[in-house]
Amino acid sequence: MRFPAPIEIGPLTPAAQDAVRELATAASVHDGVAPLSEQPLLRLGEDAHDLTHVRVQTKTGATTGYLQVDRGGDVASAELVVHPDHRRTGIGTLLLRTAERDARLPGRSGAPGQRGVPLRVWAHGDLPAAQGLAAARGYESVRELLFLAFPLDGSVDQASAAPVPRPGYRVRPFRPGSDDEAWVALNAQAFADHPEQGRLTVHDLHARTAEPWFDADGFLLLEGPDGRLAGSVWTKVPTDQPDGVRDGEIYAVGIDPAARGRGLGALLTDAGLHHLATVGCTRAVLYVDGDNAAALATYDRAGFERAAIDVQYAPGPVS
Ligand SMILES: CC(C)(COP(=O)(O)OP(=O)(O)OC[C@H]1O[C@@H](n2cnc3c(N)ncnc32)[C@H](O)[C@@H]1OP(=O)(O)O)[C@@H](O)C(=O)NCCC(=O)NCCS
Repeated sequence: MRFPAPIEIGPLTPAAQDAVRELATAASVHDGVAPLSEQPLLRLGEDAHDLTHVRVQTKTGATTGYLQVDRGGDVASAELVVHPDHRRTGIGTLLLRTAERDARLPGRSGAPGQRGVPLRVWAHGDLPAAQGLAAARGYESVRELLFLAFPLDGSVDQASAAPVPRPGYRVRPFRPGSDDEAWVALNAQAFADHPEQGRLTVHDLHARTAEPWFDADGFLLLEGPDGRLAGSVWTKVPTDQPDGVRDGEIYAVGIDPAARGRGLGALLTDAGLHHLATVGCTRAVLYVDGDNAAALATYDRAGFERAAIDVQYAPGPVS
């Protein structure tokens, strides 16, 4: 090991959380892609039995690396980043080895027969460095998350008229407080096969509705003829975008499995695009799994094109 610096495993103090955010920003500026996704950033301050924070520092206390492992799902999902000024010194390898050990821990200690879960590591942007580290440690790509984009500046006039739902259906904004449980239940149904989105709880929902970007008018629910939720489209316009950039994300489109095949996904996608155009976005963006043929077809028809890719790696041979 070329690397002599202190490593700290455990919950992060507020100052340590700030240091990790600064590290993530430095990597974003250097790499052109954010190294940590929204959920790990939202959980920096959490102290949970199935969540591990690992921070690497210099002897003088500067944060040079960070790893978060979430062992709460069917797989242990890890995200890690090394400060651009401290790369190729073995910190990435150290963090990855720590993640491998952490994934072997049971979700709850003491439960009989618990043996940990397979490890998955996200590489946002699938940068050459991540590919190099993955190859050096014998990892294989097991999942692709595509980042799609669609220009909203004049090519189609999405702002002119909101799409009209079919008779009996109604599109309305989310009502914080009264729609929470019903939406979480709908989301779990709609994303039953999705490892992250399908696990969102009311607590996770509240973490997002408390964010500065949250806008209930951009979170649209589709009510069916029976008055129950049949689907939703949630849009997100980040508040900290650089000058001249006004991206709006189709954050999640979900349709109740019982209501699929009736064009409701396309309707909600259009409703989300209409909202983003109305609030002045010049580009719509979204993430979709590379093997989600139904969603890819919907977004392809709407005119989205592939702009970037995130890859999930697993230690080979794939477990
Ligand atoms: C990927 C990342 C974590 C690597 O961190 P690191 O501390 O520089 O990695 P290490 O020093 O442990 O590198 C170990 C090996 O990985 C490979 N590697 C690392 N960076 C590489 C690069 N830029 N190009 C090719 N191979 C690379 C090499 O084989 C290296 O061994 P070597 O230096 O003896 O040649 C870092 O570049 C980073 O934070 N990137 C942005 C976030 C990210 O992509 N995270 C996902 C990781 S899967």
